[in-house]
Amino acid sequence: MRPVEELLTIQDLHVSFHQDGKVLQAVRGLDLSVRKGEVHSLVGESGSGKTVTSKSVMGLIDIPPGEIGKGSIRFSGREVIGMGPRELRAMRGKEIGMIFQEPARYLNPAYKVGEQIRESVSMHLGLNRGDALERAYEYLALVGLGQDQRILNSYPHELSGGMKQRAMIAMAIACNPKLLIADEPTTALDVTLQLQILKLLISLQRKLSMTVLFISHDLGVVREISDTVSVIYAGRIVERASKEELFSRPLHPYTTLLLLSKPEPEKRGKDLPTIPGRVPDPEHVPPGCAFHTRCPLAEEICGREVPELKQYGEDHWAACFFAGKKQIKEDG
Ligand SMILES: Nc1ncnc2c1ncn2[C@@H]1O[C@H](COP(=O)(O)OP(=O)(O)OP(=O)(O)O)[C@@H](O)[C@H]1O
Ligand SMILES: [Mg+2]
Repeated sequence: MRPVEELLTIQDLHVSFHQDGKVLQAVRGLDLSVRKGEVHSLVGESGSGKTVTSKSVMGLIDIPPGEIGKGSIRFSGREVIGMGPRELRAMRGKEIGMIFQEPARYLNPAYKVGEQIRESVSMHLGLNRGDALERAYEYLALVGLGQDQRILNSYPHELSGGMKQRAMIAMAIACNPKLLIADEPTTALDVTLQLQILKLLISLQRKLSMTVLFISHDLGVVREISDTVSVIYAGRIVERASKEELFSRPLHPYTTLLLLSKPEPEKRGKDLPTIPGRVPDPEHVPPGCAFHTRCPLAEEICGREVPELKQYGEDHWAACFFAGKKQIKEDG
């Protein structure tokens, strides 16, 4: 049975950025709910608002230039929007762990890896120095860096890319967070390492019963690891379904095109397939359904009204006026 309790519920989230007199609408009425214990993937082209969404959950949007216009982010029963910096800091690390594409930016170059994990554990779990160091070691072992005590005493620059990524995972999970946000955690690694890190993440997710919000460009990986998938386009969720449903019966033309398009061969395993046209400029998002400018099924209403996310099956939602009525055919 799929667990039903929601750990994270985002409703009608709006995030924009003020830059050189322009207003860039990065997230425009986004709804996302992540159930306890699941791996929930968020997929969409570059610039669609995935990172802005995950940073909003962690209270990491710089305001200004960012602005959270309206909406709600409920995490584990509490509202995140409006939380003070202390409360946010306490939540990050302890209740929400995060892994990013570039570990180098999040590991402090001036501190040894073991010290960084120890400090985070001391701060969040209140352990004394010895116990915290022991826990740091335990978690480094859990991510496959345990054989060698030297890793604890290494600076980030002394580790390889894969080791840094593992160290960051250890740091992210050392406080047993309820939610792990992994924002394209393997994109910067070569294919073999990507696989190793993904396998590691999945085994940890199972072992620790973690809830994971997984952000990815790679539909192959998403298909392998997710329970639920949300598809984002220009700052809104256009479809959300169980993995099985989404891959076998996509309802939104954007999802259908993602599944039908061929990935660029030189980017295989790394990127979403290509759909003709481009993600809208966040300063000039088209009215109505933002996808209508690229959509082969679009009719007049699509440029005029914003389709709401509607339920089509037990665990299947789509925001398209023609969901279930019109289908894109494979050859055009
Ligand atoms: N600090 C900022 N200032 C101005 N614009 C920003 C800022 N951060 C994000 N944006 C804009 O918000 C939009 C969404 O960005 P975001 O980083 O969330 O995309 P993404 O889906 O994570 O893309 P990628 O797959 O490339 O990581 C983009 O148009 C981006 O340029
Ligand atoms: Mg991103």
